[in-house]
Amino acid sequence: MATALHVDHVAKAFGGVPVLRDVSFDLHPGELTVLAGENGAGKSTLMKIVTGQLKADSGEVTVDGTALQHADPKLARSLGVGIVPQELAPYPELTIYENLFVGRELKTQFRTLDRRGMAKQAREMLGTFGVEVDPRTRMGDLPIALMQLVEIAKATTWGAKVLLLDEPTSAIPDREVERLYDVVRRLKKQGVAMLYTTHRMAEITELADHVVVLRDGQLVLNAPLADTTPDGIVHAMIGRELDNLFPPITPAGDEIGLSVRGLQLHPDGPAVDLEVRKGEILGLGGLVGAGRSEIVEAIFGIRRSVAGSIEVNGRAVHRGRVADAIRAGISLVPEDRKGAGLVLTQSVLDNGSLPHLGAFASAGWLRNRKRSAAVTDATASVRLKSSGLGQLVGNLSGGNQQKIVLARWLTQNCSVLLLDEPTRGVDVGARGEIYTIIRDLAAEGLTVILVSSDMPELIGLSHRVLVMRSGGVAGELSRDQLDADDVQERIFRYASGQEATQPGEVA
Ligand SMILES: Nc1ncnc2c1ncn2[C@@H]1O[C@H](COP(=O)(O)OP(=O)(O)OP(=O)(O)O)[C@@H](O)[C@H]1O
Ligand SMILES: [Mg+2]
Repeated sequence: MATALHVDHVAKAFGGVPVLRDVSFDLHPGELTVLAGENGAGKSTLMKIVTGQLKADSGEVTVDGTALQHADPKLARSLGVGIVPQELAPYPELTIYENLFVGRELKTQFRTLDRRGMAKQAREMLGTFGVEVDPRTRMGDLPIALMQLVEIAKATTWGAKVLLLDEPTSAIPDREVERLYDVVRRLKKQGVAMLYTTHRMAEITELADHVVVLRDGQLVLNAPLADTTPDGIVHAMIGRELDNLFPPITPAGDEIGLSVRGLQLHPDGPAVDLEVRKGEILGLGGLVGAGRSEIVEAIFGIRRSVAGSIEVNGRAVHRGRVADAIRAGISLVPEDRKGAGLVLTQSVLDNGSLPHLGAFASAGWLRNRKRSAAVTDATASVRLKSSGLGQLVGNLSGGNQQKIVLARWLTQNCSVLLLDEPTRGVDVGARGEIYTIIRDLAAEGLTVILVSSDMPELIGLSHRVLVMRSGGVAGELSRDQLDADDVQERIFRYASGQEATQPGEVA
């Protein structure tokens, strides 16, 4: 069978720490190969080598018989290798069409920018991907799912033969993932060879022709999908059997931990009422843009609201004041890890102890030792993979950065924990540990709100789920209803407005 891309004995180390060891495999035209592995296994590093952003220490990558010997992104691109990177790096201030034409701008006969021509072509390009959006929209104003599709359009329309997709769906809610799948299937039919990273098992079985697994930088599985099983793939990834991902649920207490009444974000928007008991994990489901993040941000006080009251353990909290929310014991683990106060240019130790700095404030070696011990514990609890407490956070893999954000908050004392997409981009092995921590915190009496677009997580972890739509609550599912076979369809129906809540159905 023809080979589109050949990875030949590639090795790479950072500061003496091996990240890829002797990796070899092929990609074939019209086939999608899933590249799986735990956070920090070396997936993104491998993709960067293939696109010429990084140079391998030894071994080589050949495309169509031509070797990419030096780190040469231009050569890789001219050979038809495109990438949609894990951390999208669009120009948010520029329009969609400007983003699509970066470096290939069209000119008029007067040598000025042919904006109309570019916008027109951009519209056609996006149209072939089923995206109906004005190409003059600012890139920064798009939801991530659309940005992702624009980046794919950008990577493929210039005749890519090999396309690398680094966790393209980690930021897209389940419902919108279908559109991406359609695009991927079409590219497959056109003969594009794809290498695709994901932490979702359902996606592997849905899309892959071939599966390649990296563990600690080593290739441990390379097989057609038909010769694998989900358990076998997980085993290859983590080197052990996976325990039950969702530990049993401890019943919630009776006392109300968090009460939100009439919370309104806009003068003419819906008012939201929530009551969450101590020990309860309340899931918030819904499509992107349904207002789930906005609600938790408003409760935490970092987003403006115009009306409503918030109480923690029966005591009123000043709406819209973060300091008061924190004093009342509310914590928010936000969706965007880059905006979450991670300082990419600082170490794991400094980042891991940021919210606790007060506790370690008086200087001295004993304090420092305590601080190291606390951060070591916290990072171990989420299975952080780093080269040590001194490693710069900016050099951690994407999933491991997310784990630091979580470790920071999960180990802090609070009484109400607001989690916004807590395991986005986190590997399956670490997910289990994080779920156990969240469950344990709830069992100790913590009040938890979980915003999640990951259906199994939302359904498996919550005591109760509210489905949001257009800023309001569209439906509620009890634990019994969450255990029903048709629960996913039910959530979708609420989320898309096909089913209104029956009077009396919601407690
Ligand atoms: N520039 C760098 N300097 C030092 N270490 C690095 C650098 N880039 C990556 N690493 C390390 O290399 C390892 C592999 O990282 P990589 O980003 O390839 O992982 P990954 O498999 O993509 O993980 P994830 O699923 O979290 O995205 C990690 O331990 C990471 O900390
Ligand atoms: Mg990665």
